[in-house]
Amino acid sequence: MTTSAIQLTNVTKVYGQSKNEVRALDAVSLTVPAGSFTAIMGASGSGKSTLLHLVAGLATPTAGEVILFDQTISQMNDDTLTRFRRRHVGLIFQSFNLLPTMSALENVCLPELIDGKRMRDIEPKAKQLLAMVNLTERGDHRPDQLSGGQQQRVAIARALINDAPLLLADEPTGNLDSKTGESVLILMRELVKEHQRTIVMVTHDPKAAAYADRVITLSDGKIIDDLGAMIGGKLSTATIAALGGV
Ligand SMILES: Nc1ncnc2c1ncn2[C@@H]1O[C@H](COP(=O)(O)OP(=O)(O)O)[C@@H](O)[C@H]1O
Ligand SMILES: [Mg+2]
Repeated sequence: MTTSAIQLTNVTKVYGQSKNEVRALDAVSLTVPAGSFTAIMGASGSGKSTLLHLVAGLATPTAGEVILFDQTISQMNDDTLTRFRRRHVGLIFQSFNLLPTMSALENVCLPELIDGKRMRDIEPKAKQLLAMVNLTERGDHRPDQLSGGQQQRVAIARALINDAPLLLADEPTGNLDSKTGESVLILMRELVKEHQRTIVMVTHDPKAAAYADRVITLSDGKIIDDLGAMIGGKLSTATIAALGGV
């Protein structure tokens, strides 16, 4: 039985060589239970994106193991990993990465189109997802005809089209005003609480982290703090120090 979505064992990522060596992650071990919402915080350069990329299988660790849903992805070959990622992982980034020439509906369908499925087979589900993110009326709009918050919601719908149990988000509210950011966070929380998804979200923003069940803080590639839900929206002193004061 799978109880953990993510298991990292002594994961190290080194970029560059000798003099230029950067230890972006330093022997990080971490277990993320399925159906939980985790926020990763830390100053710029502390290794947050690297951690997310390794979990997504977009980069390989220099040492250590990355296990998703009991499968060791750090040992998979490219083809197996690509197939595994398509079924298990949805990615949401700060820049929404929507294709400008495609409608919102087509953008949501894109991962499945790339996977060789036909538009008419995917369309009903894509429409359901647009309805879930409150964009039923906007399916025909191109990204430049949508607000930032609407574009991010399209990106979230797109991350959900393959029913991925694990969603990885890098600063998903970074480009949004606080009100639209809040609507995106509420949606992410619903996905965890009502749809049993697992979410790991990188954020600089303590208000965003307050939506998570757990807040992990990175500093110089190491986990320096690992807390349950932020009690009363307060960060620990160690986290505040790592963020350079907030
Ligand atoms: N592709 C790369 N090549 C070389 N160094 C990198 C690369 N990606 C990240 N780094 C370095 O690794 C460290 C961690 O980066 P990153 O994971 O992007 O941090 P964060 O997302 O917390 O800002 C930084 O020192 C960064 O400069
Ligand atoms: Mg980053």
